[in-house]
Amino acid sequence: MPGPTFPTTAELYARHVIPTYARFPLAMVRGRGTRVWDEGGREYLDFTSGIAVNSLGHAHPALRDALAAQADELVHTSNLFLTRPQALLAARLEKMVGIRGKVFFCNSGAEANEGLYKLARKHGAPHGRHEIITLDASFHGRTLGGIAATGQSKVKLGFGPPVDGFINVPARIECVANATGPRTAAVLVEPIQGEGGVRPLSPDFLRALRALCDTHGILLFYDEVQCGLGRTGHWCGWHSAGAADAEPDAVSWAKGIGGGFPLGGFWVREAYADLLGPGTHGTTYGGSPLACAAANAVFDTIEKESLLANARERGSQLRKAVGQLTLVHEVRGAGLLLGAEIGDFEPHEGEEGAPALRLTKRLIKAGLLVVPAGEQTIRLLPPLNVTTEECDAAVAILREVLAVAQPLV
Ligand SMILES: Cc1ncc(COP(=O)(O)O)c(C=O)c1O
Repeated sequence: MPGPTFPTTAELYARHVIPTYARFPLAMVRGRGTRVWDEGGREYLDFTSGIAVNSLGHAHPALRDALAAQADELVHTSNLFLTRPQALLAARLEKMVGIRGKVFFCNSGAEANEGLYKLARKHGAPHGRHEIITLDASFHGRTLGGIAATGQSKVKLGFGPPVDGFINVPARIECVANATGPRTAAVLVEPIQGEGGVRPLSPDFLRALRALCDTHGILLFYDEVQCGLGRTGHWCGWHSAGAADAEPDAVSWAKGIGGGFPLGGFWVREAYADLLGPGTHGTTYGGSPLACAAANAVFDTIEKESLLANARERGSQLRKAVGQLTLVHEVRGAGLLLGAEIGDFEPHEGEEGAPALRLTKRLIKAGLLVVPAGEQTIRLLPPLNVTTEECDAAVAILREVLAVAQPLV
C-alpha cells in the first residue's frame, strides 16, 4: 500500500479550506455499494449515504452509465433552452406526488426552500401576507432565508439581523394556530424532521395543519429534502408519516434526488404553478440535462430494483435489532431514515462532545459510518439498496461498541 503523500489531505484542508464543518479526519477515495474506503485503504460500512443522498449507494452502474451517456451528449445548456431530461423528470415528480402541478429545478435543498419562500410571498403579497410559520427543531438550510426558517437557534448565531417574516413555533397545532394571523402566507414543515433528531410529525398534526391552512387561505409546504424520494420506503414523506390525505400545496426536494449528483427542486399545485412567471425566479445550473439524467436514472433504478420495498424491509430489520441494543432508548423514523436515541455514557480519556458525537467517533473506529443528529441521536441512513447482511453487519458493530460503553446514570 502506498504511504501518505505530503502535505497530507488534512494538512491541505487546514491550510486552504474554510473550516465551516467539524469534519471527521478521514479522506475518502472510493465507494462501492454500501462500502467506502479512505486514503489509508481502510474499509467502512457507509450508513451515512452522504447524509441521505446516495440512494443507490456508491458507483451504481445505472447512475454511472446515465451520467456518462448524458455527458457525451450535453452537460449544460442553461435555462435559456428546453431539454428532454428536465421535462421528463418534471413529469415524473408530478406523478410521484400524485397531484397535478408543476416543478422548478435548482441545485440544493436550501435553494429549493428559497423558491418556496418566494412562492409564499408572491401568493400572499396582494393580500398583505408574507409571514411563514415553521417549527422549532426544524432544519431548512443555511442561506439567510434558510436559517430564519430553521427553528434551531444554533444556526442563527452571529448572522443577525434575521430575514424578516419567519416565525418558529413548537410543533403543536395550538402554537401554529396562535401564530397565524392576517400576515401569514404559508406554513412550512418537514413531515419527518431529519437534522432535528429524526422526529416524525404525527398524522393528526399534519391533518390539523392542512385544515388550518384551508380555513385561513394559507399555503401548506412540505420540506421533503431529507425525508422524500423513497428514503422512508415511500415516495412521499407525508405518506410515511401516516398522513397521505394531508396533501401539501408545494414540496421541496434535494439530497437523494440525483443520487449524489447535485440537484434540488420543488413541485407546486397547478393553482399556484404560474405565480412564479418569467423573470421572477431562476438559477443558471438548475435542472441541467446532466443532473436530470442522473435523477431519471435514480428513479428508474428505485422502480426496477423495488427499492421502496427494500427500504421498508431493511428499515424494519434495523429498527427491531437496534431497538434491542444496550443504551438505545428509542428508534424513530421510517424506512431508512432512522434515528437511534442513546443514553449518556462514560467518556474515555480525551473524548469530548455530546453522546451522539462520541458514539459516532467510536463507531467510525470500528468501521461503521453514521450521522449524529442533535446531542443524543445517531442517524442510520444506508442506501436504499442496502442488503440484509449489511444491516446485520452494522448492527453487530453497534452491538460491540455499545457493549463496552459504560452508561452514566
Ligand atoms: C429538511 C432539510 N431541508 C433543507 C436542507 C438543506 O439542504 P442543502 O444542504 O442541500 O442546502 C436539509 C439538509 O440537511 C434538510 O435536511
